[in-house]
Amino acid sequence: MNRILTTLAAFAAVLSVHAAPAVTQKDKDRAANLVSRMTLEEKIDLCSGKYDRFCTYAIPRLGIPSVRMADGPQGVRNIGGKHIQSTFYPCGVSAAATWNREAIHEMGAGIGCAAKAHGIQIMLGPGVNIYRSALCGRNFEYYGEDPYLASETALAYIQGMQEEGVMATIKHFALNQQEYDRHGTSSNADERTINEIYFASFRKAVEKGGVGAVMTSYNPINGVHAAENSWLVKDNLRAWGFDGIVMSDWESTYNTIGFMTGGVDFEMPVAYAMDPAKVKELLETGVVSETDLDDKCQHILQAFSAFGFLDKDLKADPSAEDAALSQQRAYNVALEGPVLLKNEDGILPLKPGKKNRIVLTGPNADVIVCGGGSGNVIPEDGKGVTLADGLRSLGKNYSVTVAGEPKPQLLKEASVVIVAVGFSRTTESEGSDRNYAFPSEHNDLIEKVLQYNPNVVVVANSGGEFDLKAWGGKVKAILLNWYPGQEGGNALAAILSGKVSPSGRLPFTFWGELKKNPAQKYYGRAPKHPRSNRHNYNLTDYAEGIFLGYRGEDHFDVKPLYPFGYGLTYTNFEYSGISAEASGDGFDISFTVKNTGNFDAKEVAEVYVAPVKPSVLRPARELKGYDKKLVKKGTSETYTIHLGSDAFSYYDVASHAWKVDPGEYRILVGSSADNTLVQTTVTVK
Ligand code: BGC
Repeated sequence: MNRILTTLAAFAAVLSVHAAPAVTQKDKDRAANLVSRMTLEEKIDLCSGKYDRFCTYAIPRLGIPSVRMADGPQGVRNIGGKHIQSTFYPCGVSAAATWNREAIHEMGAGIGCAAKAHGIQIMLGPGVNIYRSALCGRNFEYYGEDPYLASETALAYIQGMQEEGVMATIKHFALNQQEYDRHGTSSNADERTINEIYFASFRKAVEKGGVGAVMTSYNPINGVHAAENSWLVKDNLRAWGFDGIVMSDWESTYNTIGFMTGGVDFEMPVAYAMDPAKVKELLETGVVSETDLDDKCQHILQAFSAFGFLDKDLKADPSAEDAALSQQRAYNVALEGPVLLKNEDGILPLKPGKKNRIVLTGPNADVIVCGGGSGNVIPEDGKGVTLADGLRSLGKNYSVTVAGEPKPQLLKEASVVIVAVGFSRTTESEGSDRNYAFPSEHNDLIEKVLQYNPNVVVVANSGGEFDLKAWGGKVKAILLNWYPGQEGGNALAAILSGKVSPSGRLPFTFWGELKKNPAQKYYGRAPKHPRSNRHNYNLTDYAEGIFLGYRGEDHFDVKPLYPFGYGLTYTNFEYSGISAEASGDGFDISFTVKNTGNFDAKEVAEVYVAPVKPSVLRPARELKGYDKKLVKKGTSETYTIHLGSDAFSYYDVASHAWKVDPGEYRILVGSSADNTLVQTTVTVK
């Protein structure tokens, strides 16, 4: 009943949202007026976070308040340096795996409400760096390998948050695909790859989402650090019409000239580049101009004005968050994120009844797991719902034993053994790359359980692909559960018991072996690069170019274990009757999906565009649309997905612009990048 009431409340909340703020001419004029009245010292101080690592400098005589920010992106992590408790949502990759824009919009709104409750005006999320290798320590915070899925997920999150009047910060701009030596390794890529793969989410967030802030990354891009890179910020980001705040990542500035002229407005969290003495000296010698400084202040203040920060009371307002609604929002995402990779002999869903003895074990069985670093959030009540809690609350119909140290007796007699393993904040985290394999004691435990009982279900916590070679073929089921947040235990219990069918889909390609990923050999660091030392930094070449993830399957002739977009459920679907109708600047693609099995389930229909005779080298197919609907057993649903002209475009290096070639394109619709179920052809004129 509680859930129904809160769902209705959530629905009402959606209907009552206000439009997201946007910078108007009035905001620009107001900011210009303020800047004209600021002293040089005030201008310099406004452009750094030196007063409290997570807020801006207040200038009370001009009515400019201190604006507070917090991490991000799966809840409100901190107030200043203090780690606080707040609603802990599923991590980014889990959000992307839902393929559910509404649920992510609600998640953004929920975090926006929590921010207001804690007196935070700017949230440091979403993180949208594209997944390139399983080893990146922060994949869990991001939205996977595909620029379309990542940008749609980011857009929904940003819109939900900003409609609550809280500014979102999209990060880390750009090409921050590894944590290994993140300050020192230059990400080198060509213009087309950068635009098609790595800029896409940022660009959509600016052009369609009106995102208020952008955070640059630690790494150099083609040799120039992001926070000092005018090509990145002025020639690209600002050229897309971005009129909000660009901030540096925490301690990612290296010199004052670069920072002053590079186009980034706000240095966090100290004043290293924006040290007043250094800035004044450069102003005096004429190396930098006061206009550079004015531009920074202008951007900061016009964005503050647009979001009402110059006018409203910025104090914490606990009434801004409805705890039950937040819990529901976190639950909804946790319910749709988990991806069922394998399910043999119908081992899932679990069978009720006293005779079906379910044993749960493993290091992640009775703890709330999260990746580490600035994305690590502490649940609202300090503990959250673990998988063990969730299974226990299934009630008397289920026989569940939670075993810390499983005894061979117990294992032999179990009908099913669920082993909860994977990474956690100490093994998958910001600041370093991770191993491909789970900690060895986790893998050993799976092998040990298999010695006594073949009916093993592995529930895995991870932000990306992991090594399952030793046991993947032997266990009956594998559920990739990411870091599912404070409601994860309840959500997973609903899935394992069949109350709700799994509906998550992989937001990246699960190659099955690290070396199968074509990008892997270029990932990390060019070993013994002859010129590394000369430049005093390492280099990583994005030599796979646009052929990242599933885009590289045909190009490099390699097949994954589980393709991008893949995920099993408890029922079967049949696709039929595809048609394409010209509509607006593109086509409406319609088809029917029938649930022919015994469970209600949500089905993600994925639409890929495949150019028949491309004039330039292009991926064989690219995701350009998707929709997720509940299809009840025995019924059918019609899906209609619009493909605009951008669905057919590629980045043309000669004109430095997006281009659509006329001609035929196949439209492939199915349940993963490798599983086309219906298709048609359209002609673009
Ligand atoms: C991270 C950012 C984060 C910031 C503030 C940095 O280490 O890269 O994502 O927002 O810290 O905590």
